[in-house]
Amino acid sequence: MAASRILTLNEVIIQKQSAFPYAKGELSRLLSHIGLAAKIVNNMVNKAGLEASIIGETNNINVQGESQQKLDVFADETFTKALQASGIVCGVASEEKDEIIVFDDDLSRDGNYVICIDPLDGSSNIDVNVSVGTIFSIYRRITPHGQRISKKDFLQPGIKQVAAGYIIYGSSTMLVYTTGLGTTGFTYEPSIGEFCLSHYFMVTPKSGKIYSINEGNYIKFPLGVKKYIKYCQENDPETNRPYTSRYIGSLVADFHRNLLKGGIYIYPKTASSPNGKLRLLYECNPIAFLAEQAGGLATDGYGNRILEIVPTDIHQRTSFFVGSKNMVEKAEEFMKEYGDGYE
Ligand code: AHG
Ligand code: MN
Ligand code: MN
Repeated sequence: MAASRILTLNEVIIQKQSAFPYAKGELSRLLSHIGLAAKIVNNMVNKAGLEASIIGETNNINVQGESQQKLDVFADETFTKALQASGIVCGVASEEKDEIIVFDDDLSRDGNYVICIDPLDGSSNIDVNVSVGTIFSIYRRITPHGQRISKKDFLQPGIKQVAAGYIIYGSSTMLVYTTGLGTTGFTYEPSIGEFCLSHYFMVTPKSGKIYSINEGNYIKFPLGVKKYIKYCQENDPETNRPYTSRYIGSLVADFHRNLLKGGIYIYPKTASSPNGKLRLLYECNPIAFLAEQAGGLATDGYGNRILEIVPTDIHQRTSFFVGSKNMVEKAEEFMKEYGDGYE
């Protein structure tokens, strides 16, 4: 539902602050700092076609074995600096860094929060003017104040997230977040340089008509996924037409479309990626939190709720089934019946 009067991100998070008395305004300030970094990255993403210095690959390979794009590095540095400058965050786990970053300065050392972040999601799409994003997840630290934080502070199940969200740099730029009280969306208004409330209490349709999966990997999919895809291609009991296939290759953009329209996104494990491709801490958990808060579901396809998986590694991967409740449940039925077998 559209808001009757334009409210900015800062105004809304200040209004909602009363719901988190323990946070003393910290969470609100933190979300503001994330919004600021998002504006800086947005500005650079918009220039990507013009600024030769920002397109293309660096010479680095990240911990995932993927070649880092220049904009991956820029986004990582921008968000890390903004989080450190907030004074509220004591450490970051980023897709672009092998190890956790511990902020050891006087301002941040005792910060109450740790962040898991995918600074630029879908980065292979930068050079071709296709939507990319940033995904973040916020946890309270576990290590007592006065002691140095460790990986343990980041290896918390998704149900412990105090907030999560994404920014989509698309045909318009949006910031979507949740603090566990529904999913809310803001659209960037460049003329005033603010994220403005545009999607209050987002609710995803219980069923949809879109399925999103990289079908180029079809022969490597578990049998349950193959059967579910066939079902999508043959069945829509309501309209008697097949579902529609849509796949951008940016998780944020694929999820965002399905959130609004209804649909399912699947990145299963495959014969060549036995643990799936997407990363639990900074891709699947935040997206799962947002999905559930909008009335959707997120599982690993094997009956396990994403948010309850206890991580053992900061770059851990998982298979991922997310989207409209009825569609995820149907896909789970196929997985239960046919599992990982081969035809
Ligand atoms: P990233 O750019 O952060 O490495 O993430 C890419 C991810 C995700 O955004 C997308 O859904 C998926 O990789 C696409 O993978 P395929 O090209 O294998 O379909
Ligand atoms: Mn990503
Ligand atoms: Mn990324």
